[in-house]
Amino acid sequence: MKIIPVIGTSSILPQQKVQNVFLRSYCSEKGYEFKLSHTLFNEGKIDQQKISEFKKSHILLYSFELFVNLGDAQILIDNGNIIEGAVEGIVVKNSEDIQELQLKLEIQNSNNVILGEEVDFTTDLHSKAKRDYVARVTNFPKGECATIAKQFGEDYWDGDRKYGYGGYRYDGRWKVVAQRMISKYSLKDGDTILDVGCGKGYLLYEFKKLLPNSKVFGVDISKYAIENAHEEIKDCLRLGNATNLTFERDSIDLVISNTTLHNLKINELEMAISEIQRVSRGNSWICVESYRNENEKANLLYWQLTCESFYSPEEWKYLYTKQGYTGDYQFIYFE
Ligand SMILES: C[S@@+](CC[C@H](N)C(=O)[O-])C[C@H]1O[C@@H](n2cnc3c(N)ncnc32)[C@H](O)[C@@H]1O
Repeated sequence: MKIIPVIGTSSILPQQKVQNVFLRSYCSEKGYEFKLSHTLFNEGKIDQQKISEFKKSHILLYSFELFVNLGDAQILIDNGNIIEGAVEGIVVKNSEDIQELQLKLEIQNSNNVILGEEVDFTTDLHSKAKRDYVARVTNFPKGECATIAKQFGEDYWDGDRKYGYGGYRYDGRWKVVAQRMISKYSLKDGDTILDVGCGKGYLLYEFKKLLPNSKVFGVDISKYAIENAHEEIKDCLRLGNATNLTFERDSIDLVISNTTLHNLKINELEMAISEIQRVSRGNSWICVESYRNENEKANLLYWQLTCESFYSPEEWKYLYTKQGYTGDYQFIYFE
């Protein structure tokens, strides 16, 4: 495990000296590599891209002076209290904080899992659709519709809206998402991309247009979706279950799974998360439906047809970490 402390520019400040002394002695005791004052700056600004790269394989320690600038740190320890909302990284301000630091490092090290970051690629698309949550429950026999939807057959894709997609015709909306992913994960033409729960393969179709030499693969449990996928992408899709991905370990440059895994029951879900982690060479992103409050929970319950796993973001993150997942994630909410 490498530790890169990110120390602020004004190294004469007393708390930074304390920080360095404690970190250095802690790391030498534990046999960790410690790069003193490894500042991740790019023209005076914190290099966020470097930070997210390092997060995959390093524990980052952020100095207190930089905290204000590092809105994306994942866990911040300030005087022994974990501050929720700030993310990944530890602030050591004085000698007492080292206890907390030690605990955190030991937990991270024993699990050897550092969950990636929350990356929003799709909320703007999701929010565009107008949804009448209550009508979904009062206008139709919800249980019957859900039973049919769960077959992921013709009714779900091309039947009435009460069963799912309602015959939705592709309108090019996934192009911007593919572009965002290519940029975020620095994908090159020739890279491999796997979409778990790819449906009709819209996103992969856009990837293939933007990166024509890329090797794209889609896996989905729906025979109907694969048979009725975009002609250009059909050959890249295969029938399969997220619980058992027939790809080699570390073989895929980017594994994505959009609004699929909440359709799995807990035992399958655990397998699917582990599978995504296993086949990914480093970059992965999972987006699921979730809720932040009782309102969103009710809306999700009303709206959903195929959901099996109803968890808050904290529960999802717990599950990801438990399964050793180090990729990124996103949540979709029904506001
Ligand atoms: C809401 S759709 C999302 C499709 C696509 N990812 C998209 O964003 O347009 C959910 C997809 O999950 C697939 N699915 C459900 N359970 C699955 C499983 N166990 N393994 C693989 N795919 C599954 C369904 O067939 C469906 O295509």
